[in-house]
Amino acid sequence: MGNLNSAPRRRVLIALVSLTAVVLIILNRRQNPDASWFSLSAISSSSSVDRGIAHPIPQLMLDAQTKFRALVARQSQTLDQAVREYKKRYKRAPPQGFDKWWKFCEEHDVKVRDEYDQMMRDFEPFFALSSDEMRRRSEQVALLPSIDLVRIRNGDAKVVNIQNGFDDSEVSARARGFKVMIEPFMKELPDLDFPINAKAEGRILIPWEHVHYPNMTKQDSSGGVEDMLGGKFIPDWRGDSSVWEAFRRTCPPTSAARRLYSATVAQLESGQIPMNLLSAQAEARGKAPVPSGDFSFQEDTDDHFSFCDHPEIHVQQGHFFSDWRTIPVLYPVFSPAKAPGFADILIPSHYYYASTKRYTYGWDPVREVIKETDDGEVRWNRKKDLIFWRGATTGGGSSPPGFIAHYQRHRFIRMTSDVTSDKNRTVVVANPPGTNHYVAAQVPIPTLNTFIDAAFTKAVGCSAYPGGGCEAMRREHRFADAVLLNEHWKYKYLIDVDGMGYSARFMGFLASESAVMKNTVYLEYFSEWIQPWLHFIPVSQNYQEIYNIYSYFSGGESLAQIANATNPVPPTIGRKHDGDTQLRLIAKAGRQWKKTIGRKVDMEAYVYRLCLEYARLWADDRDEGSFKG
Ligand SMILES: *[C@@H]1O[C@H](CO)[C@@H](O)[C@H](O)[C@H]1NC(C)=O
Ligand SMILES: *[C@@H]1O[C@H](CO)[C@@H](O)[C@H](O)[C@H]1NC(C)=O
Ligand SMILES: *[C@@H]1O[C@H](CO)[C@@H](O)[C@H](O)[C@H]1NC(C)=O
Repeated sequence: MGNLNSAPRRRVLIALVSLTAVVLIILNRRQNPDASWFSLSAISSSSSVDRGIAHPIPQLMLDAQTKFRALVARQSQTLDQAVREYKKRYKRAPPQGFDKWWKFCEEHDVKVRDEYDQMMRDFEPFFALSSDEMRRRSEQVALLPSIDLVRIRNGDAKVVNIQNGFDDSEVSARARGFKVMIEPFMKELPDLDFPINAKAEGRILIPWEHVHYPNMTKQDSSGGVEDMLGGKFIPDWRGDSSVWEAFRRTCPPTSAARRLYSATVAQLESGQIPMNLLSAQAEARGKAPVPSGDFSFQEDTDDHFSFCDHPEIHVQQGHFFSDWRTIPVLYPVFSPAKAPGFADILIPSHYYYASTKRYTYGWDPVREVIKETDDGEVRWNRKKDLIFWRGATTGGGSSPPGFIAHYQRHRFIRMTSDVTSDKNRTVVVANPPGTNHYVAAQVPIPTLNTFIDAAFTKAVGCSAYPGGGCEAMRREHRFADAVLLNEHWKYKYLIDVDGMGYSARFMGFLASESAVMKNTVYLEYFSEWIQPWLHFIPVSQNYQEIYNIYSYFSGGESLAQIANATNPVPPTIGRKHDGDTQLRLIAKAGRQWKKTIGRKVDMEAYVYRLCLEYARLWADDRDEGSFKG
């Protein structure tokens, strides 16, 4: 396994997949790839009569602008409006202290004040628990490994690791980071315990039946955590099961992922595939299956992708292979990111809040200030027209082993560093160059890969790499020297790819004057506040569209000539169109977003509101704990 081009049969499939992606781009519709495959001939013939291809990116960018303008314009302007909006959306009164939170937003010019749907979804299941139960579970879950408590008593916060006793220097940076975030308003808060996940991975996966029929689960946690979990909690899987197995139980019983589960314990029905053949099946699909339009030019990032409906894709996602055992019970655990299906409660990552050399744009570690412009920043016109990525081989654990080559970063590196393939890919290019007249061109893969400079810098967890451990991993992937964060600013495109969890570089990338491409399956605290195709370019899990993205913004003379060789067009056709200016718009919008909505104080506003919601769940009388305005 490993090499994208190792099997001829796979090559054909890859070609099919990429053509399908192009057709999806052309049609810009969510539909079955097989169906779009049939329409290819129609598209080709229409482009050969020289009307050109209607490129979807201009529309995606326009729609993104419209959507974001509407979001900003509809935010409540007064406390009264905000209360009404809250009641309309969530069918209850806001929590006590809402007026003080509102004042905090006003004082700090917080722009986004109504968009908290994800936070409410995170908290919703806990409204079914009594406040006693809520309080007990909050403390109890901190008995499990890698969960620390941020404890508020009498308006003062400290970090506690219950297992080891009291204040613990061993507590995680995530808990310490959360404590700093709540300091500006902790005096306003009642006594509370926040269980903070010390890991980057999500922790809570509750079976679907238990979500829909809570009466099937233990309601009363007074018997202790082992009673709730049905035995002693072993931190890692030890071959017992896996994150994927736990995740599948969160899917509806009728979903494809659950049908597969039944198949492993019962008879296979025709057309079903046993678990152990799933990876082979995904490989046969060219490691980059396009199950539906969802995986192509979609409006949102992949954090809404349904692994329940497309279980075969799970082998491409490292987080399903984490060695850490998930928790199948409704416990409140605060985490920096979560993939679909997880029931953790989202908080901002401490990496975004703190200032570090590794992640913070403009950080001057000597003077301990964040500069408006990073010392390594480069003027737009001097930035290289390349998609740049450097990073470690993180991407998941090894439970079960044997899948590392499929993880998101490994696939990306192999795809983008293939310089020996003799295959072409169909790419939509502007011909004549610099116009809006788009045609399809057959471009050799090695040519396309000259637009991308991506490499691993560090091999971690490679001893488990199938077929030869670290040496095999090094052989099959491009490696280069590590670079400082500010080396990134020399490139127009920065792609951000999930690692073991969310990628902590995103905020730093946004702050820079480069355009950010993002590939993720994670939800984060800001997911509702940022607009794909305005502030960044969303990239799907199979990366198939990156060549078309590049070619739209930066495709120049050389691509036009390749197109012209087979399908010549006169130099007079089409209207002038400057892709580079469009790309720069995204870079600027991302930077502006970080300066106005992705600030530290916006993270504080988020966490402030989160604390109020959480305090109400803890309150003996939740009506009493609501805002009376
Ligand atoms: C749980 O509640 C559902 C209806 O809400 C009911 O049909 C079912 O019998 C209950 N199960 C138990 C174990 O009480
Ligand atoms: C690749 O495309 C070029 C035209 O751009 C064509 O001449 C060549 O035959 C193609 N190669 C393959 C392997 O399809
Ligand atoms: C494409 O071919 C046409 C016809 O030969 C020519 O007029 C035009 O200049 C060519 N365009 C490019 C970009 O080479």
